[in-house]
Amino acid sequence: MKTALDQEEEHFRLINIEHLGYDAPQSYDIFYKSSLYGTTRYVKFASNRPSHQEKVRRLIESGEIGESFYIREEDLVKYHQQATRTLRKLMTNPQMPLKEKTKKVYDVSKEVMKDFFEHNASEKILKSSDEVIEIMEQCLSVNEGGFHSIAMITNKDYYTYTHSVNVGLYCLAFGVKTKMSAKDTRELGLGGMWHDIGKSKIDANLINKNGKLTDEEFQVMKNHTSLGQDILESMKCYRTHVVDMAGQHHENFEGNGYPNGLVGEEISRFARICKVMDVYDALTTRRSYKKALKPYDAITLMKTKMGGEFDPEILQNFIRYLGPDL
Ligand SMILES: [Fe+2]
Ligand SMILES: [Fe+2]
Repeated sequence: MKTALDQEEEHFRLINIEHLGYDAPQSYDIFYKSSLYGTTRYVKFASNRPSHQEKVRRLIESGEIGESFYIREEDLVKYHQQATRTLRKLMTNPQMPLKEKTKKVYDVSKEVMKDFFEHNASEKILKSSDEVIEIMEQCLSVNEGGFHSIAMITNKDYYTYTHSVNVGLYCLAFGVKTKMSAKDTRELGLGGMWHDIGKSKIDANLINKNGKLTDEEFQVMKNHTSLGQDILESMKCYRTHVVDMAGQHHENFEGNGYPNGLVGEEISRFARICKVMDVYDALTTRRSYKKALKPYDAITLMKTKMGGEFDPEILQNFIRYLGPDL
């Protein structure tokens, strides 16, 4: 039976208060959890009153945030909007090193994708990843960071949400390095971040299963491509590139991929790029049943045993730009 706290918890979401800029006041309530006489409750820490905002500002400025903070589920979109606004401002700080900026972008994107995948947040919060990608594209375009700066900060434990952010950022770096237009680069990054979005519609027990999938389970899992395509199509605001990346990233260059067994240039170029980044990230991250491969070993495997799966020109370019990490 659900306790009162369980029921409450369904409506509250953990936030990272550091992601809020104290110069942009929040328009929603912030809570903390309090345990008193064996009962745990969410207690209001700050509302949008000026004196409360001041309290939040002082807390963030102090850098000593020992407590966890929460907001109501319905305020998630506003929270993520505020976090991306703050991020945009941080990026203009010339004093902040690139590595720190990249890390901030990574953390904010990860939080958006985590809320989406693990807490069934509405598709509305995905708008924030759109903004994050734009910020990151600007950051990478003016800095010589590329794959190297991203590979240094990516999470090496595999979760759908970390994998999504990793692939998005690798795609983005690929677009910047190969001098694709800013519009294409952003769409490539966004499509990378959302390529597995269809997994949000698949049973969480299957997604989080420890160990390899059975043939039957694999058949169910394969649906994430078409499901992802449907989600993005229904959002109606992205060009076909983004939709194709979700629908075609498991197609193989030499055929026999899924869902449609497309071959070569029948597969969208955006999806062919996504395929390389997707496999590279999957190989270089840890899962309960497998170790993470070193970048060099992952590339060797991709070139030899898996060669036919990738567009050779894209794989070659990726290896060239990966340079310092190998
Ligand atoms: Fe996938
Ligand atoms: Fe993937």
